[in-house]
Amino acid sequence: MKVLILYASITGNAKGMARILAQFFEHVGATVTVGEMQQTDAAELAAYDAVILSTYTWSGGVIPEESQDFYADLAQLDFSQKPVIFGIAGTGDKFYGQDRYNTAPDHFEQVLIASGAIKGADSIKIEQGATEADMPAFAAFTKAIVAKVKAVQAD
Ligand SMILES: Cc1cc2nc3c(=O)[nH]c(=O)nc-3n(C[C@H](O)[C@H](O)[C@H](O)COP(=O)(O)O)c2cc1C
Repeated sequence: MKVLILYASITGNAKGMARILAQFFEHVGATVTVGEMQQTDAAELAAYDAVILSTYTWSGGVIPEESQDFYADLAQLDFSQKPVIFGIAGTGDKFYGQDRYNTAPDHFEQVLIASGAIKGADSIKIEQGATEADMPAFAAFTKAIVAKVKAVQAD
């Protein structure tokens, strides 16, 4: 199983989640590639069984500015013929208000679903950096994604 994990991160929290997820997916035997959204051609996603995005939320509840081109390219893709399972991990801060808390994962989810990608797990949303207490959520997320990949490929 080939898994692509892409992050957008300024202070390292989303990058840290990407690293944690890489370990979880490697643990279940996946071949994992980790990179930055802004350095990645969105068309590459179709070469993977599963794509995981790890993102922070920026001012006003929006996606990271440096991921905007990547996001726009996602909107142009069509995954309906080649199933790609996706999952999203978000980091945010409740200080910015309930309506804006950790909303970037929702924006990415919308565009991926519109492009025909298949949601494999509910988004993980954490405040600031991941801690030991978050590990069961990462484990469950990984398990759900792997199960979805297997189910879709068995069809
Ligand atoms: C100027 C600024 C605006 C932010 N706006 C939001 C926001 O609207 N919603 C939110 O949930 N978090 C917001 N955050 C918090 C970041 O998403 C949070 O600190 C996150 O952990 C940063 O991830 P990173 O370490 O990967 O860069 C904001 C942070 C800064 C500095």
